[in-house]
Amino acid sequence: MKMHLQTTDPTAAVTSTMSADLWNSAASVLDTNWSYDHMVPSRRLYPHQWSWDAAFIALGLAYVNPTRAWRDLRSLFEAQWPDGRVPHIVFDPLTAEGDYFPGPGFWNVPAYGNRPARGSTGLVQPALHAVAAWEVYRRAASHGAACAHEAGQQLKWLYPRLVAQQEYLSRSREAGGDGLASIVHPWESGLDNSPSWDSAMAGVPADLGLLQRYQRRDIEVADAAHRPTDLDYARYLGLVLNYRDGGYGDADLAHRHAFVVECPAFNAILAAAELALVHIAAVVGADPMAHRRRARQITEAISRHLYDERSATFRARDVRTGILSPARCVNGLVPLLLPDLPRDQVEAIMAEAASPRFGLPATTGLPVPSYDRTATDFDTLRYWRGPIWINVNWLLRRGMLVHGYRNEAEDLRTAMLRLVHRSGHYEYFHPETGAGIGAPTFSWTAALALDLLADRSVPAYARAA
Ligand code: GLC
Repeated sequence: MKMHLQTTDPTAAVTSTMSADLWNSAASVLDTNWSYDHMVPSRRLYPHQWSWDAAFIALGLAYVNPTRAWRDLRSLFEAQWPDGRVPHIVFDPLTAEGDYFPGPGFWNVPAYGNRPARGSTGLVQPALHAVAAWEVYRRAASHGAACAHEAGQQLKWLYPRLVAQQEYLSRSREAGGDGLASIVHPWESGLDNSPSWDSAMAGVPADLGLLQRYQRRDIEVADAAHRPTDLDYARYLGLVLNYRDGGYGDADLAHRHAFVVECPAFNAILAAAELALVHIAAVVGADPMAHRRRARQITEAISRHLYDERSATFRARDVRTGILSPARCVNGLVPLLLPDLPRDQVEAIMAEAASPRFGLPATTGLPVPSYDRTATDFDTLRYWRGPIWINVNWLLRRGMLVHGYRNEAEDLRTAMLRLVHRSGHYEYFHPETGAGIGAPTFSWTAALALDLLADRSVPAYARAA
């Protein structure tokens, strides 16, 4: 395969002028995208509140507006379901039904809690919120006792809700009976259109008639070449309808739902959240031990069930067939977040990240793409099928710091900052030229740029012994 990588010197320093420009532009994106009690990912394409976006966004708001960081997290958890699930989208009552599809009318979920929302979806997203809450607290605590006390009150409110979220995912979603949480829709992974789901999705019926009944909105506000195909979209809608018609219940999922998959990134984030809860529990006076145990159990289950010895990579597992996906995707690198991952698996992830398939900045000058560059269906434009995303690179960098890969982490940090500075706070980036694609003023790109500029070290609890 021919590559035209737009290389930049990955070791070149991020200058102070660059940093100041980037800081100001990032802060202004977050100002623009604030909507009375929550942040929208982008005004046009994503005009409601998204779950894991709120976690990434809080990480950046912690530096420029901690009050909003807490507000955004609280708004999201105010919409938590009685069963503990935190919905992947909470619908803004001020946004018209026609401005987003599938909107509140399609999901038909009542508004839970006392938040004035128009209901939510019935799906979830990766549970990064405990990690975010702990980081916002750490930042506040570094400003003295009074700030720590105030942030501690926020943690007190969030703690039982974070625990309920973990319990929902660990119990109700343990469809494979192997200690891992399953997702029931590609949208739950946050890596919506990733090739990771192709093999499992091939078994999901695609009723193209659904696209006559319902009108896609994403291809009206974004280029269709960047978005999922109609065939995939029909499958997405069919999966939601099946889950919705079963009252969004989780009993017996593996038998009555067509897509039940264990994602290595989703589960690694679940375990990382338990590690953050160890520390949050200590602040709020709860018992940290159960969280430590859960983190270890999830790590062991990922290591045992999602690692393919032959290719030395982590893959998504289809619970219905027990088969690991053949696609090598960026979600396979995310278990690096886990301090207790066996050493040979840590080294395997680093080797995969440095290989021509992902090409760490030392060889490409760019952060890693969402999919194997050498795959025949690597797609430079279609989302999650090739382009570069800042959020997964942020997770990968954190994993590098967890395991002491300081130089690689620094190269990756520099590559991310240079890319965002050069191209803007885009939703994602072309993996060969670095050009911005998707929504142009995207909240988590801006928020994570702030965090990377501030460059704080990874807390001791998250580091390998
Ligand atoms: C896209 C992304 C998803 C994100 C959402 C809102 O659907 O795939 O991860 O949460 O946009 O930004």
